[in-house]
Amino acid sequence: MADRDPHEYEGKVVFVAGGSSGLGLSIGQDFAARGAKVALMSRSEERVQAAVATIDTTGERAIGLVADVRDYAAVEAAIATAAETFGPIDVVVSGAAGNFLAPALGMSANAFKSVIDIDLLGTFNVLRASFAHLNTPGASLIVISSPQGQRSAMFQAHACAAKAGINMLVQCLAMEWGPAGVRVNAISPGPVVGTEGMARLTPTPEDEDFFKSRLALRDYCQPEDVSDVAVFLAGPQSRYITGTIVDVDGGARLGDSSADAVTVTSRESATASFRI
Ligand code: COA
Repeated sequence: MADRDPHEYEGKVVFVAGGSSGLGLSIGQDFAARGAKVALMSRSEERVQAAVATIDTTGERAIGLVADVRDYAAVEAAIATAAETFGPIDVVVSGAAGNFLAPALGMSANAFKSVIDIDLLGTFNVLRASFAHLNTPGASLIVISSPQGQRSAMFQAHACAAKAGINMLVQCLAMEWGPAGVRVNAISPGPVVGTEGMARLTPTPEDEDFFKSRLALRDYCQPEDVSDVAVFLAGPQSRYITGTIVDVDGGARLGDSSADAVTVTSRESATASFRI
């Protein structure tokens, strides 16, 4: 974070739901490095305090708040505390998510509901509860979606349905809240290096290589690739952008890109390299 301007977000307040790990934490750290005051929210007191300690332990620049995104009253209380501590909120990041790989016939109704509740209902709760505490006009709400919101995937019926719902929610709220000076956008990150999700999806180096070989850009995303976009969506450079899903996914939503088109120059070699 050495190249960040420490005054860029001075005086601004950022609230991050799902802020104790992964992309939520790296986005919080990025805004803090640019001078913002940051409130991180997570389900676990221990994890959120450990996350705050990576930014500042004095409570002057960063605080940790505990709430489950599925519990509207708890989310509302956490956001109110953030606003009482630091002032009206300029940027809200909704990044809490839960997932597991399972075929539809291998998950109970409660399993499906769990992911819908964390991802979709949780996003609604965070955005809905934050509205009364926003610094308007000019507030920016940013949701972490995923390529599954645009592209179906086996064993991901719950996550695909939840993320597709999130993408539509973002667009509906952008319409309803734009006149109040509130922008609502989503970032759709592809596989991010070092995350719990990728560790479970590709546990061996061979799995990782195979996964990368199907991505158009042949590599995982760095956390900074996502936080840079969050900063852009929060700032004045994006003042006319609302209701968009920004894909930071190396082409993941496009499908299997494993055929190397640069070396495929004839109909015969295209047929030979094409895999279903
Ligand atoms: N396959 C099928 N069903 C599963 C499952 C799996 N791999 N994992 C959980 N479930 C089911 C449970 O059996 C339960 O259903 P049941 O009541 O009918 O038995 C339901 O999902 C809820 O599970 P539970 O663990 O009680 O819920 P939770 O609210 O504590 O946690 C998750 C839900 C999704 C967060 C949990 O699966 C989890 O901890 N995942 C790993 C962490 C994670 O998702 N990190 C984010 C990565 S993007």
